[in-house]
Amino acid sequence: MKQQRENFGSRAAVIMAMAGSAIGLGNIWRFPYILGEYGGAAFILLYIAASLLVALPIFFAESVIGRRSHSNAYGALRKLAPGTKWHWAGILTIISPLLILSYYSVVGGWSVQYLFKSLSFDFTTGSPEAVSSYFGNFISSAWQPVISHTIFLSLVAVIVLFGVRKGIEKFSNIAMPVLLVLIVALIVYSLTLPGSFKGVTYLIKPDFSKLNADAAAAALGQAFFSLSLGVGTILTYASYVKKDENLIVSGLGTAGFDLLFAVMAGFAVIPAVFAAGIEPGAGPGLVFETLPFIFNQMASQAPVVSSVVSIVFFVAILAAALTSAISMLEVGVAFLTEEKGMKRAPATLLLAFFTWLVGILCSLSFGPMKDFHILGLTFFDFVDHLCSDWLMPIGGLVFTLFVGWKMKKADVRDELTNGGTCNRMIYKVFYYLIRYVAPVGIVAVFLTNLFL
Ligand code: PFF
Repeated sequence: MKQQRENFGSRAAVIMAMAGSAIGLGNIWRFPYILGEYGGAAFILLYIAASLLVALPIFFAESVIGRRSHSNAYGALRKLAPGTKWHWAGILTIISPLLILSYYSVVGGWSVQYLFKSLSFDFTTGSPEAVSSYFGNFISSAWQPVISHTIFLSLVAVIVLFGVRKGIEKFSNIAMPVLLVLIVALIVYSLTLPGSFKGVTYLIKPDFSKLNADAAAAALGQAFFSLSLGVGTILTYASYVKKDENLIVSGLGTAGFDLLFAVMAGFAVIPAVFAAGIEPGAGPGLVFETLPFIFNQMASQAPVVSSVVSIVFFVAILAAALTSAISMLEVGVAFLTEEKGMKRAPATLLLAFFTWLVGILCSLSFGPMKDFHILGLTFFDFVDHLCSDWLMPIGGLVFTLFVGWKMKKADVRDELTNGGTCNRMIYKVFYYLIRYVAPVGIVAVFLTNLFL
């Protein structure tokens, strides 16, 4: 059944929506703690190399498939390679983003809860012991995190229900500039704390001793996650990009903003962590455990400022998480509306419901289900590793191989240069990276994940 397809309204809207997908918990929650684990500035250099050589080429591969076909991930591969089995890989990309969304929404729910706690000044007026132990108690309880996950996912579904222009584009257009302002404010605050300078040194002075194959795999994994690759999200968004837009400029803009926000989040979080005399290698709890503790400490000197900062911080995380989460849901909604002829509302609700159920299991795996293990991992960790270590790179590999080896070179060139009118040199570089370097990079990560 042929339905009228929507488009993003302008180049700024394309970049804003794609950057909205890319910039999320991966930047504000994950990047600072991975940076803390792998030696600060040295890891940033590795991350930039992984982004340029592997992640960005895959980003362009997805963009080419999406814009060429103007279809959802499954339909795109079928349209561009009719009569072959390529579109089966499209099914994978319908499932992967929903799986990611199921655990992403749990963490998104934590940010909802933390925003409520900040608004009621609990972090700034509570005792240090209560604040320190809050995270562990909260995530291991049965109901509270499930309710937060439900609130978060409902917000995501409502935005997606409004459609590409009125929902995704509009929300991203508001949330992204707000996020930028909030993060800049947080950096200013963080840098004015006594003792924060050590954190700045940590961020700009590379410690190459921590770099090894493991760090390289982590850098590539982070680049994949951060640019929303391998799960059809960028492909689906690119399918809403008009023919006369410049895909390479949109991609470079998105990746540039993504990197900028990751580094800015590092500068907002790490100096504050040093100022509080805490080690930056605290792992996944860095944002949810360490920061509230810091807000609590700061409150003894400046209660109003630290209360405001904690609110700003969790609004920022929530806004970033929402713009990413909507892109995950949109992949499946595009599939159901275009391939199965469903209306947007039932398609959105159906997928949100499925995600909600899986998300509940993810949430419970910190509490009542913590002893339930798959391959030695809790359910949350299992889904996270399945997606980040396997499904995203497999999807990325499919897309690069498809564009590099299956599609006609002339078609790829046509998309990336808009019929030979722009980017002719840069296209050549990226075509080479898509064909050779990116697939080799992904296979190297598989091997690292298998054997390290
Ligand atoms: N890029 C998002 C982040 O950094 O938080 C995560 C993400 C979004 C992953 C969309 C996958 C996806 F399809």
